[in-house]
Amino acid sequence: MELSISLRSILLLLLSLSTFSSSIALRVSTFQKPTSRLDPFDTSIWNSWNFFACGINETVIKETDDCWSNQTRNSKGELEPDAETFPSGIKALADYVHGKGLKLGIYSDAGAFTCQVRPGSLFHESDDAKLFASWGIDYLKYDNCFNLGIKPEKRYPPMQEALNATGRTIFYSICEWGEHEPALWAGKVGNSWRTTQDINDSWASMTTIADLNDKWAAFAGPGGWNDPDMLEVGNEGMSYQEYRGHFSIWALMKAPLLIGCDVRNMTTETLDILSNKEVIAVNQDPLGIQGRKVSVEGPDDCRQVWAGPLSGNRLVMALWNRCLETATITAKWEVLGLDATVEVSIRDLWKHEDLSESAVKTFKAEVESHGCEMYILTPIKESYSVMDVSMSQRVLL
Ligand SMILES: *[C@@H]1O[C@H](CO)[C@@H](O)[C@H](O)[C@H]1NC(C)=O
Ligand SMILES: *[C@@H]1O[C@H](CO)[C@@H](O)[C@H](O)[C@H]1NC(C)=O
Ligand SMILES: *[C@@H]1O[C@H](CO)[C@@H](O)[C@H](O)[C@H]1NC(C)=O
Ligand SMILES: *[C@@H]1O[C@H](CO)[C@@H](O)[C@H](O)[C@H]1NC(C)=O
Ligand SMILES: *[C@@H]1O[C@H](CO)[C@@H](O)[C@H](O)[C@H]1NC(C)=O
Repeated sequence: MELSISLRSILLLLLSLSTFSSSIALRVSTFQKPTSRLDPFDTSIWNSWNFFACGINETVIKETDDCWSNQTRNSKGELEPDAETFPSGIKALADYVHGKGLKLGIYSDAGAFTCQVRPGSLFHESDDAKLFASWGIDYLKYDNCFNLGIKPEKRYPPMQEALNATGRTIFYSICEWGEHEPALWAGKVGNSWRTTQDINDSWASMTTIADLNDKWAAFAGPGGWNDPDMLEVGNEGMSYQEYRGHFSIWALMKAPLLIGCDVRNMTTETLDILSNKEVIAVNQDPLGIQGRKVSVEGPDDCRQVWAGPLSGNRLVMALWNRCLETATITAKWEVLGLDATVEVSIRDLWKHEDLSESAVKTFKAEVESHGCEMYILTPIKESYSVMDVSMSQRVLL
């Protein structure tokens, strides 16, 4: 009961934002590339790993991470769900999830075994893809353990071809931990690629990963996204302000937003963050341009401005205070690619209100230590275009 009520509340909140949804937002594309993809729609996925690790079972699942399968393949060499934890099988689970208007993701590995030593899909791509498609899977996270030292550029394309050959649209999420600079090649192979090692539930990890992911902004866009790993929001290792920054920056970077906490038992603060529709709308913006860190000031560059263009001639801007004390952070129009004389109206996405004053030339706000304020800026003069070439250019492979 507890599960279905709280799960449903978050799912519904997010569902109202997008055509399809699971439990959190994942940007997908309109951009045609030779790979299986979920075409122009926005979905949302919840990943069991951060909270449950191997303690998953069909009661808590929406996207299964590692440990859904039996320890070995069956006598026909097929993957089989663990009979104890998934007694009804994956197909029944998929039917249930689809019946709720959601999508189901599954996990496998481009190696001999998964990280938890269940069977991997390397050299079984075609059979496993067919099985996933027959179960009605919509999303595949494809990991990197036990990879036999074979380059990811060789191991990941066969699964793309196998998924494509099934005829079912399956979002292909490449997870080679950013080791072979996947932004430079995975755009032709998958719908998203992890840019870094695994995130952990700490401020140090989250900020490090944000910076690493930022480096590849120019390679992301509709059809292929940088993936800085899932959200730790709600797992209690960071403060409310820190989680708010985590969610804001992931949304601004157009990262796949995968909830990684126990959705049955979220605090009001966690729910408040994860269900902020205005922030999710930034993530799902149809323009699909990854926002970037555009200016830094102060000790260790701790006063940061992140920004990027949005559809409808708007800009999103985050003032992120990574300093140890409250600080005033100033965004100058020049770093946003705006002419100094341009007047903009400003909406605060955390307060959910329009600021009473418009701004010209600069905008500043006092931001708590480790806090993040997020705004949408719209030029008052409609004929002025916010599109700054340097921020909107995408490297197409
Ligand atoms: C398979 O690839 C072709 C060629 O790019 C594409 O047109 C088609 O939509 C893909 N099919 C699926 C199911 O992704
Ligand atoms: C599924 O996991 C939850 C949370 O760990 C647990 O409370 C429940 O008993 C498990 N159900 C089954 C059928 O194993
Ligand atoms: C799972 O694997 C074990 C051996 O590891 C086997 O006994 C069992 O029959 C397999 N099948 C299922 C559905 O659990
Ligand atoms: C979490 O990540 C940070 C930064 O990468 C690292 O310094 C720390 O050791 C990690 N903590 C754990 C528990 O893995
Ligand atoms: C919910 O969270 C509280 C506080 O963190 C914890 O004590 C409780 O055991 C959790 N309940 C479940 C069902 O996980």
